[in-house]
Order: sequence, then C-alpha cells, then structure tokens
Amino acid sequence: MAVSIAAIGPLHSHGFPSTEAGPKRTATYVNRSAPGFLEFAHALFEEPAPAFPGMHWFAAGARMKRVAVLISGRGSNLGALIEAGKDRSYPAAIVLVLSNRPDAAGLARARAEGIATAVVDHTRFGKDREAFERALQAELERHRIDIVCLAGFMRLLTPWFVRRWEGRLINIHPALLPAFKGLNTHERALAAGVKVHGATVHFVVPDMDSGPIIAQESLAIRDGDDASSLAARVLELEHRIYPKALKLVASGHIEMVDGECRSDLERDASGELILPKGN
Ligand code: GRF
Repeated sequence: MAVSIAAIGPLHSHGFPSTEAGPKRTATYVNRSAPGFLEFAHALFEEPAPAFPGMHWFAAGARMKRVAVLISGRGSNLGALIEAGKDRSYPAAIVLVLSNRPDAAGLARARAEGIATAVVDHTRFGKDREAFERALQAELERHRIDIVCLAGFMRLLTPWFVRRWEGRLINIHPALLPAFKGLNTHERALAAGVKVHGATVHFVVPDMDSGPIIAQESLAIRDGDDASSLAARVLELEHRIYPKALKLVASGHIEMVDGECRSDLERDASGELILPKGN
C-alpha cells in the first residue's frame, strides 16, 4: 500500500511534540545528545524494568535511535532537529553532525550543544565519490548510527551509499515534490507561476529527490513574493516538518517498504494530515 502524508497547515495539533507549545522543561532537561549519554543509558538499562522514579525516561533514552545529521552549510534544519530532540519523549537523539565542508556554520551549533562532529572534506577525494562515501560510512559506523538525516547536504549520493541506508536515510527538500526537484526551487516556482509552494521530507532513493514522501507542508505564494521572501517562509515550514518526519521514522510509525511509505497511523480527525492512500 502506498502512503503519502501531506501535512497541509500547521501540524502542532496532531499530537507530535512541539518545541513551541507547552511549558518549557528546563528543570528536567538533560542534553541527551551529549557524548556518552546514550552509552550510559544503554549500559544501565539493557533490559529496562522500572526500579525507581524517572527510570522510564532513562529506559526510553536507551531505546532512542542514534541519528547523524549531514550538512554542508548554515544548519538551520539541524537546529530544528536539535531543539526537537530536547523534548524527552522524542525517540531520536542526534549523536553526530557530519559535514563535507570544514567551514559549515552548522558545525559550531553542534559543538555548542555538545554533539560530536566530523568533517569528511569531499575535495580530498577528487572525482571518486565512492571513496568519499566510504569515509562517510566509516564515521557513521564509528558512531553506531541508526538513521541519517540530510539537511542541506550538497553532495549527490551514489546508489552504493543510498542502498546501504535504505529506509534509514531521509532528506528535506524546499519544494512540494515531485515538483521542482533539484536546486533553485523558489526561483523556479515563481517563474512557473505556481500558487502553492512548500517543503517535503522524503526517504532517499538512488534517483535524486524522488523517494517516498514522509511529510509535506504547503503555503500560498503571495503577490510581491521574491525568491528570498519565499525561501524564508518555506524555511519555517521545513523547521516544522523535519522534526515531525524524523519522529515518525524513529518511532517506527512510518517505514519504507518495497520503495513505498507504510504507516500504521490513522487519519487525523481534522483531516489536515492526509494518511495513507486507500485508507
Ligand atoms: C534547506 O532549504 C533545505 O531544504 C535544502 O537546503 C537548505 C539547507 O538549509 N536542502 P539549512 O542549512 O538547514 O539552514
């Protein structure tokens, strides 16, 4: 069964954790992505059994998916994922930020959060994409990564790498796929005169920007919009849907099966979350 989730409109009302809604949990906040935390939780609670108050939280920590975020630049989507991960019910912890560019601004954000970083500079590998990807793979294995999030990672990945991460590799794209694959999406949306634009999170498959769609959110193009005003508004959508999509994948509510999304979620009562086709 094919599944496509189109999250049209704000998704905060859909029961997913929000970094905006609800009281701040600063009193109980612990940086779960801090080096060593997951190892600590795993070691203590291999087979969790509630032995003392708060243990459920530690046990949940032990089951969290270990996520690497691959970036090439600014890292604002990385920031949104980091913020989402501070909710203690979030099922994923960012334990590695990996960049192909040593000067990527997002690396500093990761370090400031105590998250491990690595740089695999693609220029060292010339045209040998697979050698570059073997170096990426080595870092991901070293950090025992479960899920890889591409967030402004500006390298095309070969089938060799994509197949290794099938169903565990997701990407954010600044357009409503399958429209406007590739670069300069906002310019092309304006030139095409479309009235609706948006953002998509999808599983990565060997064909660029073509994998099964996990989440989308749209907006109306306004009179007077230019590429930069549009990019700014789409970026807000990106920051909302990426954490939600990662939550769906990390919790196992959405998975890629036979090249399609499969979900056990019910259609939302408001109808805003369109789930799955055929339901
Ligand atoms: C985002 O627009 C993302 O959709 C695209 O590249 C941009 C990265 O921005 N793939 P940031 O580095 O997350 O701020």
